[in-house]
Amino acid sequence: MIIAADSQALSEGLQALRAQNTTVGLVPTMGNLHQGHLSLIQQASNATDIVVVSIFINPMQFAAHEDLDTYPRTLEADLSALRNVGADIVFTPSSSDIYPHGSNNETAIHVPLLGDALCGKDRPGHFDGVCTVVYKLFQLVKPDVAIFGEKDLQQLLIIKKMTRDLKLPVDVQSGATKRAQDGLALSSRNQYLSENERALAPLLWQTLQHSAEILAASPANDARPILIAARKTLEQAGFSVDYLDLRAISTLSAAHDATQDCALFAAARLGQTRLIDNIQILDT
Ligand code: PAJ
Repeated sequence: MIIAADSQALSEGLQALRAQNTTVGLVPTMGNLHQGHLSLIQQASNATDIVVVSIFINPMQFAAHEDLDTYPRTLEADLSALRNVGADIVFTPSSSDIYPHGSNNETAIHVPLLGDALCGKDRPGHFDGVCTVVYKLFQLVKPDVAIFGEKDLQQLLIIKKMTRDLKLPVDVQSGATKRAQDGLALSSRNQYLSENERALAPLLWQTLQHSAEILAASPANDARPILIAARKTLEQAGFSVDYLDLRAISTLSAAHDATQDCALFAAARLGQTRLIDNIQILDT
């Protein structure tokens, strides 16, 4: 496994491995790898000849008051997990390599509408940061395939739109959300939860599942009472709900019922920790 600590080393590593007709897969991450990340890497290695994993805690997607400084950094453990799963190149650039002029002074990419809804509304500029770094990683790695998790469904939809709009020659694929046994979606931020909060946290997924079952059973019914009841269940248990909405998958605009292709999206806080999850409403 090649560890490339800057873009020069990445380019040399890629050159050494890339032969004619070799396909390259990219899995961008911020490290602190768990089974969710590793499942995407596994998927990439089934799809392409060479797998590049990036580990970069992207300052541009964190607001000043957010957890950039405390975000878990576990490089040694990440590298041994990546050796076991058979990654070919791990790209671990510094901030100045990705943003030589500082992340506030560089060209940014904004995906309108999709990028302004839901988490984009609660975290202004967040998706500009995500899109800009993903665009740069696409330029540096030139992957044939890039894989993103459905856990961050809004992020996945935004990256797909950016790739389409900018006509980038990358096949963006998605990987299913990996969960703990009790249903909580795996996330690097779960370790911020206290013992009590961790015990409550699976209620987010349970509530989404329950609401999705009701919506799927009667798709033409008004979704509002179901959303209100779901929000109440979470608030009574101690969550602060940032949003819990039914949205059309194509545009992320509000859906009044489940007759179109849609998903429930939720962001809710337990103490200082913000959890997000989603569930697609499938025809029954
Ligand atoms: P990070 O949170 O490290 O996630 C990296 C990738 O893993 C993303 O595509 C995310 O959707 C996926 N992922 C996270 N938890 C998952 C789970 N439980 N099951 C399946 N996939 C999961 O998302 C980011 O980093 C950043 O925004 C990034 C895209 C790297 C840009 O900086």
